Amino acid sequence: MSHPLRIGIIFSGRGSNMKALLDHIQAKPDTYTLANLICNKPQAIGISVAKAQGFNTTIIDHTRFDTKTDFETEISNELSSANVDIICLAGFMRILSAEFVRKWDGRIINIHPSLLPAYKGLNTHQRAIDDGAQWHGCTVHYVVADMDAGEIITQTRVQVKKDDTAETLAERVLNVEHKTFCDGLDLAAIAYRENKRTKE
Ligand code: GAR
Repeated sequence: MSHPLRIGIIFSGRGSNMKALLDHIQAKPDTYTLANLICNKPQAIGISVAKAQGFNTTIIDHTRFDTKTDFETEISNELSSANVDIICLAGFMRILSAEFVRKWDGRIINIHPSLLPAYKGLNTHQRAIDDGAQWHGCTVHYVVADMDAGEIITQTRVQVKKDDTAETLAERVLNVEHKTFCDGLDLAAIAYRENKRTKE
């Protein structure tokens, strides 16, 4: 049996996806271990959510750095020293540079609140409503240098209701994000082990 994969999680806010991943990692100790938890916002609610579950968060506040490169170097050092295998972006609201993504190529996955390739970027729920979209949802995908453009790992669809507001739709999508992200991690983990095996 190979060693549990070392998972890094990076988040910026409320952390509900981060918590879902923590629960998933804790439920599968033979498969995963949490390598580190990083947040770029010192006031993020998710920090206390993680604390309540017994996990400390490393705060890497992007506003403390003169350049994006310095900020990302700090994150990279943190991930490297924790020997991270797979990095999950769980509501991490900064765009990573091409250099960072190249360094961690094929090892970063992200959850995005739309059925990509539709609605990359922000305000996805309002844009789906404005378009009269019948279906909306969430996507787990690999992170590449182009925003929200990496290979799709898994998606879950949610029907848009006639009376939906951006808030009601966001809530229903968030409800399915948690399982979708855990499923996406499971699929990425299989691919990661497979890839490692072929390289060896
Ligand atoms: C989630 O809806 C996630 O899909 C979205 O931010 C929210 C974070 O919520 N991510 C993005 O928009 C990334 N571009 P959470 O902090 O409760 O997980």
